Amino acid sequence: MADGVLPAALTVAFLLLLGTIGAAHGQLQMGFYSDSCPGAEDMVTAAVQEAAASDATILPALVRLQFHDCFVRGCDASVLITSAGNAAEVNNNKHQGLRGLDVVDRAKAELEEQCPGVVSCADIIALAARDAIAMTNGPSFEVPTGRRDGLSSNVRDADVLPDVSDSIQVLRSKFAASSLNDRDLVLLTAAHTIGTTACFFVKDRLYSYPLPGSRTGSDPSIPAAFLSELKARCAPGDFNTRVPLDRGSQGTFDDSILRNIRAGLVPIASDAALEASNATGALVGAYLGAASSSFAQDFVGAMIKMGTIGAITGDAGEIRDVCSAFNTN
Ligand code: HEM
Repeated sequence: MADGVLPAALTVAFLLLLGTIGAAHGQLQMGFYSDSCPGAEDMVTAAVQEAAASDATILPALVRLQFHDCFVRGCDASVLITSAGNAAEVNNNKHQGLRGLDVVDRAKAELEEQCPGVVSCADIIALAARDAIAMTNGPSFEVPTGRRDGLSSNVRDADVLPDVSDSIQVLRSKFAASSLNDRDLVLLTAAHTIGTTACFFVKDRLYSYPLPGSRTGSDPSIPAAFLSELKARCAPGDFNTRVPLDRGSQGTFDDSILRNIRAGLVPIASDAALEASNATGALVGAYLGAASSSFAQDFVGAMIKMGTIGAITGDAGEIRDVCSAFNTN
């Protein structure tokens, strides 16, 4: 009799556990396309690999693309829409420099040939970001899928995105508005372990930072040698030159960004701002003190959490035919 009871109890516990996981991800689930389009995830990986083979800088761009998708209206691919003319979300200045939309478009075109009308653009964004992290020597992980594509894209919706000049309090509240806590803020900002920024986002810290007595100059929190380095890279009026977000380690996913944040050796103010609050500063210190595997593991958790923001599932939204346009039928 005990033989019969124990498995039943375990089954209940297992189902409860599954329910918990399901609830945490909304209706998203691992391997959502395993029956409907078994090759879907591999096709996205192939498209990312192909793009990276000719331009490896596309990898960080794809990670940023998921952040910009998920923070505005949720992870619904609203950022990919161009069919709404200049009134589309993507036309907001907050998306300046956003790249990788074409990689998603190409993956989608290939998926439509294999499995028409099945794989959402929102899922392609999440899968491509996941692949990009693994391809920069970051952790490999599964992401839940089953997102549907949204039906709106408005230029002003993107106003909610954080700015490099936001104070730590504003950054915290913008993340909190997307149900992301201080730990998520630190972990997700650490995605800046890969990639670069245009001088456009650095220049104000170098040349027009507000100082006491209505003067302007350089942000005094930038260490002197790093300030000279940044000024040499970003001359006054140069908006386009790109500098690494993670000095000395821009191509590799690792925890050196945390060391650079701690030392003030980060070009954009929002990264430096993590040290301006005890709560976020302590988290930077904690991850620096812990094994780097703990940072990587928790980063994965934060990415998966970010990927669930406002995700639409079930019969809501649509599966777009083309990622840049709403379906017409
Ligand atoms: C905390 C608020 C954040 C601010 C203010 C911010 C701002 C920026 C800026 C200004 C750039 C440079 C863009 C360019 O010149 O092309 C950038 C790049 C990047 N961001 Fe963020 N970011 C934030 C959070 C995040 C998050 C949450 C992620 C992903 C989880 C992320 C991933 C990236 C990546 C990977 C790049 C490099 C892009 C490339 O090399 O093309 N960022 N970010």
